[in-house]
Amino acid sequence: MKTFAIFAAVALACASSTAAQLQSTSVSGKSVYQPSELYSNAVVAGNWAFLAGVGAPATTSSIEDAVVGVLGELGSTLQGVGGSFSDVISGRVFLANISDYDGMNTAWTQRFSSNPPARTVVEAANPGDSLVEIELTAYLPNGASSSAPAPAPSS
Ligand SMILES: *[C@@H]1O[C@H](CO)[C@@H](O)[C@H](O)[C@H]1NC(C)=O
Repeated sequence: MKTFAIFAAVALACASSTAAQLQSTSVSGKSVYQPSELYSNAVVAGNWAFLAGVGAPATTSSIEDAVVGVLGELGSTLQGVGGSFSDVISGRVFLANISDYDGMNTAWTQRFSSNPPARTVVEAANPGDSLVEIELTAYLPNGASSSAPAPAPSS
């Protein structure tokens, strides 16, 4: 217990000293995916970009369309930090219904056709009745591009 407390204190100290160096990036995307004021769409720490989970509108009827839309939004965020899908090293997929696994894979493999990222898939209740929520982590070899052009909003 005492050892854990010390580790926790050290971890907290490290976390707070690192926090000042983190670059929080908010990238606007399609209007259906409102950026939240509660969290950042992406946080860049050194060469790492952590993208917040993105869900699909509840009106999206098929899992394929939902995944395509969500990955499109995540692609805009990646572009906003100077990255692309080829920089993605891991992904986490939260399906509202695990029966959508095959459908999700159909859309997923279109985007990640070769050298796919590491991935976790679980069934979970998602906010907003989204069929799926996806979160990505990317490694940017040249670091974040703060001068990357903002993605054009699509309507
Ligand atoms: C999940 O999908 C299957 C197959 O479409 C369906 O039978 C089942 O009712 C769904 N489960 C929920 C909780 O919606």
